[in-house]
Amino acid sequence: MKIMIVGGGGREHAIAWAVAKSPKCDKLYAAPGNAGIAQLAECVDISVMDAEKLVAFAKEKEVDFVIVAPDDPLAAGVADAFLDAGIKTFGPRKNAAIIEASKAFSKDLMKKYDIPSAAYETFEDADAALAYLETQEAPYVLKADGLALGKGVLICQTLEEAKDGIKEIMIDKKFGNAGNKVVIEEFMTGREVSVLCFSDGKTILPMTSAQDHKRAGDGDTGLNTGGMGTFSPSPFYTDEVQKFCEENVYQRTIDAMAAEGREFKGVLFCGLMLTPKGPRVLEFNARFGDPEAQVVIPRLKNDIVDVMEACADGTLDQINLEFEDNAAVCVMLASDGYPVSYKKGFEIKGLENFEGKDDYFVFHSGTKFDADGKVVTNGGRVLGVTALGDTLVEARANAYKATELIDFENKYMRHDIGKAIDEG
Ligand code: AMP
Ligand code: GLY
Repeated sequence: MKIMIVGGGGREHAIAWAVAKSPKCDKLYAAPGNAGIAQLAECVDISVMDAEKLVAFAKEKEVDFVIVAPDDPLAAGVADAFLDAGIKTFGPRKNAAIIEASKAFSKDLMKKYDIPSAAYETFEDADAALAYLETQEAPYVLKADGLALGKGVLICQTLEEAKDGIKEIMIDKKFGNAGNKVVIEEFMTGREVSVLCFSDGKTILPMTSAQDHKRAGDGDTGLNTGGMGTFSPSPFYTDEVQKFCEENVYQRTIDAMAAEGREFKGVLFCGLMLTPKGPRVLEFNARFGDPEAQVVIPRLKNDIVDVMEACADGTLDQINLEFEDNAAVCVMLASDGYPVSYKKGFEIKGLENFEGKDDYFVFHSGTKFDADGKVVTNGGRVLGVTALGDTLVEARANAYKATELIDFENKYMRHDIGKAIDEG
């Protein structure tokens, strides 16, 4: 089969790695891909948002199967464009990707179908939102409705801060049109767990659990980032939590989407908080998490192409999803200064140490080839270094050892990815 991946980050590199080892894959394309994906696929410089060019390219190359991986193109209907052109596609249509693209939609869905989540109110009017804040207690959780590169959530400790937040989101439009509506939510406490699930619209198969570390600094300090590292499985995702979510979250959400005429095919990412009152949904995403994908996919036993095709074909009930009985830790190597400002264009040394290894990996997030063909840094998050181990503690030691194999000027990482697991 000829397969094409739309996207160009660490998540897409992890997907490309799994697709490339499938016996079903004869030729792999990526748009736009990156310097790491280029080792596995032919990369073509087309924007993930340019549906017309993407479809034309897929037709020209007679691509059999397309995987649309990032949130923005899914929300914009890029999967629809491929499907409407008669090309088999993995990834939800726009009308289902809304579960991520609109927080107000997903909150209303959860309320209507009794899916456990935080209490909330939605506002389209800043004055009404400000008046509502007066009736609530700190801390305040404010969420811009639309996609905001993962930065649209403000947790405010004082009323003053929360009022400023409403002004920033709704009046100053800090997140653009994503802030036309705001969700104000009950503050919850507890451990966070990410559970990514394959779905064909009827059947849903949860993958192994993972946990992200979103803050830039050690000890969960500093600004929120796209994710500084992950581990899988989460020891806090116990059999009891899993049973609760199977009964109250996963199937119920897919059935709710179907009942609303929004068949969800692809990956449903359930961001859960394990509160003292039980698991609650923090958010849904319509795609693999990044860097969650970088620890979950290397543990997948199945041929990923089989599973993804079953999602597209509606035959997921015939798949027995299996993961290795091991653990994985991913440490993100970033550019010092991320997520605020940082320099890029530095040569990355040591990548050859990862070639042909099957127990540790380097997935590229922000890299490119310079004019001389050398791989250089090209983003805030540069590379995800993932290692496997029999246990989380072992995987963590292996991952940190592997980070030493890579060097570039400006290299920055957290030193406590997965540290909580030592207590777990
Ligand atoms: P979200 O994009 O909705 O996952 O929110 C980003 C982060 O904000 C989450 O990973 C949580 O750490 C935090 N968060 C979101 N909603 C709440 C809430 N209701 N209570 C406490 N923390 C929250
Ligand atoms: N790692 C969080 C996300 O992908 O949304």
